[in-house]
Amino acid sequence: MIRREDILAAPFFRQQALIGGLWSDSETGATFPVTDPATGEVIAQVADCSPGDAERAIEAANAAWPDWKNRTAKDRADVLRRWFDLVKENRPLLAGLMSLEQGKPLREAEAEVDYGAGYIEWFAEEARRTDGAVIPAHAADLRLLVLRQPVGVVAAITPWNFPIAMITRKVAPALAAGCTVVVKPASLTPLCALALGHLAALAGIPEGVLSIIPSRSSSAIGKVLTQSPLVRKVSFTGSTEIGRLLLAQSAGTIKKVSMELGGNAPVLVFDDADIDKAIAGTLAAKFRNAGQTCVCANRIYVQSGIYDAFAERLAVAVRQLSVGPALEDAFDQGPLIDGKAVEKVEELVADAVSIGGRVLTGGKRHSRGQTFYEPTVIADATQAMKIAREEVFGPVAPLFRFDTEDEAVAMANDTEFGLASYMFSRDLGRIFRVAERIEAGMVGINTGLISTEVAPFGGVKQSGLGREGSRVGIDDYTELKYLCLDVS
Ligand code: SIN
Repeated sequence: MIRREDILAAPFFRQQALIGGLWSDSETGATFPVTDPATGEVIAQVADCSPGDAERAIEAANAAWPDWKNRTAKDRADVLRRWFDLVKENRPLLAGLMSLEQGKPLREAEAEVDYGAGYIEWFAEEARRTDGAVIPAHAADLRLLVLRQPVGVVAAITPWNFPIAMITRKVAPALAAGCTVVVKPASLTPLCALALGHLAALAGIPEGVLSIIPSRSSSAIGKVLTQSPLVRKVSFTGSTEIGRLLLAQSAGTIKKVSMELGGNAPVLVFDDADIDKAIAGTLAAKFRNAGQTCVCANRIYVQSGIYDAFAERLAVAVRQLSVGPALEDAFDQGPLIDGKAVEKVEELVADAVSIGGRVLTGGKRHSRGQTFYEPTVIADATQAMKIAREEVFGPVAPLFRFDTEDEAVAMANDTEFGLASYMFSRDLGRIFRVAERIEAGMVGINTGLISTEVAPFGGVKQSGLGREGSRVGIDDYTELKYLCLDVS
């Protein structure tokens, strides 16, 4: 068990902002509280950065850029590698910090530290592979070359549900490419971001190359980051609503953008599925981080032939999930992030029940406390329910019934979102047919866990723009420059 006092005494437990290589208070001296979602207890008072602080961080990033981009790729790779090693060395306490500020069970927090570190390691390797090209020319006395160069200062705006991995997924490729970065972490989870900043500085990431500016004034900071002409790229993970706003604000200075936005992931379970795999995969896809991920199963469509058996077995498995404070024991599910999140889940469940949804297990707040919600399964869900359209972001699994493959695909695609999707079937022909027709950036087939640094993560439709991770994840942080040389 990780002790709370050891986490709070860790050298990476920082409450000031990291701006231009200096740990500093906000220019206004303001701070804001960070709380443990399990108890509401305040665990830190963090610098509440102002728009002026954001400007300073951007200027520092711009000043640091020429030196950083002119280093060799190997130099940048070595620094990133040291950062990776330090994150791994600090895994137990970093995971503890994440459990404390975000509420994720310790086992999941450890997995996220590994996942987040994986992006640093991967992009340390990719730093040396930003090759350009030599193109056969259209005239005998010309030579055509293409360089890949860093875009410049990047603003990364990151969410609370993955307080480490969503930062490294953006910062590691940006630094590898030769960009400098200003991170605005979610105000609910700034401590992991500041811990990453501490370890980055120890690893030798130079002053100004990475700044971390916590703030409660997200919209004011977002405006500065998206409107500054010095910032050349904005990378955001969060809701479609905020993504739309940031896109509009970025239009004024024509920035490059990456947007990883909301999801409404369908799971299609066909009659021919391996039911054990389908139950295990659905549990994994639905209850990871208490249902608070953009790729969490939101709508579970089950074919009529196995609907009743699947519903019964899923309810039995869900009833066995243990619920409690993340740090206390090896629980399966922690609290939701705050009271508002619980209210939203309550509203969706009440709506579903009011028009025919049948609660098989759960369906109310958990006796553990105000931010805990019971792992829930609802049968007889229909497309008319709000739960079919809105991202639940909580531990509720609604089960819909379908008869034919066409019907399943039509229901799955009946949403403006298109991030993750899942299907369970043993028919190879069906697997290809359905996977090709599903409107989503990612399809998990006979598995509920798809996230990894080595594969392209991202969505279609209103779930976003761009891909993160994998070989292509560094592309969005580079610009192509074409050289046309007359050799005559
Ligand atoms: C997210 O919820 O935004 C990310 C989930 C993941 O990386 O698996």
